[in-house]
Amino acid sequence: MNEIYKKENSEEWMFPQDAFILSETDEHGIITYANDVFCEIAGYTVDELIGEPHNVVRHPDMPRIAFKGLWDDIQTKGFWTGIVKNLRKDRAYYWVYATVLKRVDSKGEISYLSIRTVPKRQDVEVCTKLYAELKSKE
Ligand SMILES: Cc1cc2nc3c(=O)[nH]c(=O)nc-3n(C[C@H](O)[C@H](O)[C@H](O)COP(=O)(O)O)c2cc1C
Repeated sequence: MNEIYKKENSEEWMFPQDAFILSETDEHGIITYANDVFCEIAGYTVDELIGEPHNVVRHPDMPRIAFKGLWDDIQTKGFWTGIVKNLRKDRAYYWVYATVLKRVDSKGEISYLSIRTVPKRQDVEVCTKLYAELKSKE
């Protein structure tokens, strides 16, 4: 049982340190797999997530440039890591430390895999300021 909880006096939701969010997409970023922790922390059922574009959890506080970096890196280097603020179905949010990997199967078909864990609080604080600054310049 995963202990997902909302922080007191805050719109932030947390998931356990030893848990991880796992999702897979096709080459266009359409979700093809979501684990239980992803469903629970984002507030959706698995059926609501499969077939949706991964930007279903995009938070309006995230600057566009962060995702440009994600897509550039996964296409050229094959991986990306970063701190992301995500939106829940109920409009609250959760932070993740995300790694996204590109996979190419034997038929040449591309898919992407993302594993997300609890970020360090210090990184969340740095990114909160950085993203607000970047967002103000958009
Ligand atoms: C495997 C994978 C995982 C992703 N995870 C997230 C995520 O957790 N949150 C997010 O906002 N975007 C995530 N993205 C990026 C989205 O596809 C999308 O580019 C982003 O939300 C920005 O939305 P936009 O492209 O409509 O501007 C992920 C993409 C891939 C391929």
